[in-house]
Formats: sequence, C-alpha cells, structure tokens
Amino acid sequence: MKTVHKSLLLAATLVLAGPVLAAGPCEAEIEGNDAMQFNKATMAVPASCKQFKVTLKHSGKLPKAAMGHNWVLSKTADVAGVASDGIPAGLAKEYVKDGDARVIAHTKVVGGGESTSVSFDVAKLKAGEAYTYFCSFPGHSGIMKGTLTLAK
Ligand code: CO
Repeated sequence: MKTVHKSLLLAATLVLAGPVLAAGPCEAEIEGNDAMQFNKATMAVPASCKQFKVTLKHSGKLPKAAMGHNWVLSKTADVAGVASDGIPAGLAKEYVKDGDARVIAHTKVVGGGESTSVSFDVAKLKAGEAYTYFCSFPGHSGIMKGTLTLAK
C-alpha cells in the first residue's frame, strides 16, 4: 500500500513538473543586464511566422533611469539615426522618436527585474536585408546590439 502510494505521488510529481516549456518558434527571449549587455548577439525570425514576439528581461538591479534597456529593431543602416533621434525623445517616449518610420518594432524601457514584450508583423522583414536590434537608451546602442535575420 505504501509503495503504491509512493508511486502515485512520484507520477503526480512528474506530471506537475512537466517538460520545461520551450519558447515557440515565433517568439524569443533576450536579457539585458547591469553591465549594459544583451545576452544574445543574433536572433533569427522564421519566415513561416506571421507575428514574432520578443520578450526583454532586465536581469539586473539598477533602475531604468540609470541602466534602462529596450529592444528596438530597424534596418542596420538606420540604427545610428534612430538611436540619435531617440535621445531627445527621452525616457517618457522610451527613447524612440514619435512616429519614427525607421523603427520596425520596439519595447518600452525596463529597469532591473522588469520585463516587457513586443510583437511585430514578420511581413515587415525582407529576405536579404540586414536588420539590427539595439537598446536606444543614451550611450547603449554601441554595445547593446545584435543582428536579426529572417530565416527560412
Ligand atoms: Co540599455
């Protein structure tokens, strides 16, 4: 009786623990930290996705006014312009200029322990185009950036 009970308990525990839920193919997570770094240098968006969701987690402890991070996507050629125009927009505008058509997608700015996400239409990406994601917090885009590609 006791053995049966233990077996049931074990089975129940395994069911409750379940498999670790992997992110679906149409979403990705990326982290920013207090050392002004993203934990990924590249991201790939499957062309088969209609929408792609990016979740940004700030794994640090510093407040967003001091070490804020966002995730901004544009063509690589547009990064410098989007970043410089985002500075005067300020934290209240997530360091992104209002109506900036060069911005394909962007999250809000988060501080330590916070997370945020954004979804965008994959149809906005073209095969063969070079895209870069970056943090537009003043001074961060030189280091906090990576390459995003449309994958087959
Ligand atoms: Co940042």
